[in-house]
Amino acid sequence: MKRAFITGINGQDGSYLTEYLLGLGYEVHGIVRRNSVPEHQQSRIEFVRENLHVSYGDLLDTSGLYRLLSKIQPDEIYNLAAQSHVRISFDIPEFTVQTNALGALNLLEAYRNSCPHAKYYQASSSEMFGTSVDSDGYQRETTPFQPTSPYGCAKVFAFNITRNYRKSYNLHAVNGILFNHESPRRGSNFVTNKVIKGAVMIKKGMSKKLELGNMDSYRDWGHSKDSVRAMHMIINHNIPDDFVVAMGQTHSVREMTDYVFSKLGLDYKEFVIQNPVYLRPEELPYLRGDSSKLRSTFNWEPEYTFEMIMNEMIEFWMEKL
Ligand code: NAP
Ligand code: GDD
Repeated sequence: MKRAFITGINGQDGSYLTEYLLGLGYEVHGIVRRNSVPEHQQSRIEFVRENLHVSYGDLLDTSGLYRLLSKIQPDEIYNLAAQSHVRISFDIPEFTVQTNALGALNLLEAYRNSCPHAKYYQASSSEMFGTSVDSDGYQRETTPFQPTSPYGCAKVFAFNITRNYRKSYNLHAVNGILFNHESPRRGSNFVTNKVIKGAVMIKKGMSKKLELGNMDSYRDWGHSKDSVRAMHMIINHNIPDDFVVAMGQTHSVREMTDYVFSKLGLDYKEFVIQNPVYLRPEELPYLRGDSSKLRSTFNWEPEYTFEMIMNEMIEFWMEKL
């Protein structure tokens, strides 16, 4: 039985990855942080129990990481933990950099010193590209990084230190550069889930308005389940390497909002207002990923379309509310 160790196990991706690996017969270990409301702690993973082992841990607690990895001796380590909200990274830049950059280094050090034969996956992000776009309108593995947020800057460090450890210490350490991916388990302060929850509340007469920030940025939205399948392929490639994971299609926040409201028989223009609170000091205006390398190496194809993702999330909120 293979053993995996996942940081951020109770996050959106961590919970889907856990289910996916358990389905493949893995024993899965993960860390959760101490939370003053313990009910929140494992809400996304409470339904999967067999062969799942959860411990307290934090990327900022290096000795704890070392102790756990020494004991568990995993075959695969997935570093999914992060302060993952880009706008909030402007409010708490130090914590974001400590967790997303130094936290990744802490985990790499614990890995190198306790179980160097394991494979290591770093959750890198299209936010690293920032304003950089190739002349054909795509971002890919060779596109230079020009990050536009503390979150993006921290992720660039984590990406580079993962490559550096791979080369310096001959470790099987890899990066997946993932574009935005969503699901019903997405935090409800990310734009897709915020729009969908808000639109369903308006539809059900529970709310009258929805406040958003910049509606003219473009994102390449996929599904978290397709993303975690890709993570498993990337970490298990025979050569440690870095891969972009993306749908290759882009939609503006306005188009996405229009789709969701129309699906519910509503006109978004009657309900959506802009609140500058949700604007970012620097915006990333456009993302569209070229994942040809991933597709040709592993035959990876997304199972979800943009419309399927939105519809699944609409159905989720229609039932939940
Ligand atoms: P998420 O739902 O926000 O989950 C983040 C996880 O990290 C949570 O379990 C959180 O625990 C944990 N965490 C935060 N700070 C920590 C710390 N100091 N020590 C240990 N754990 C900590 O994010 P996600 O959407 O699943 O994303 C997973 C990873 O992929 C993240 O690294 C994210 O930056 C990256 N990524 C995401 C996307 C995307 O579109 N979803 C795209 C590219 C890259 P708490 O619940 O206790 O806060
Ligand atoms: N969150 C949020 N809330 N975003 C809004 C809002 C709002 O009210 N109004 C407009 N937006 C715009 C943001 O300005 C941004 O251009 C876009 O919607 C997407 O925002 P998010 O859903 O918060 O995602 P993100 O692109 O900033 O970051 C996500 O994707 C990255 C990969 O590119 C996160 O999952 C990151 O962790 C991930 O690395």
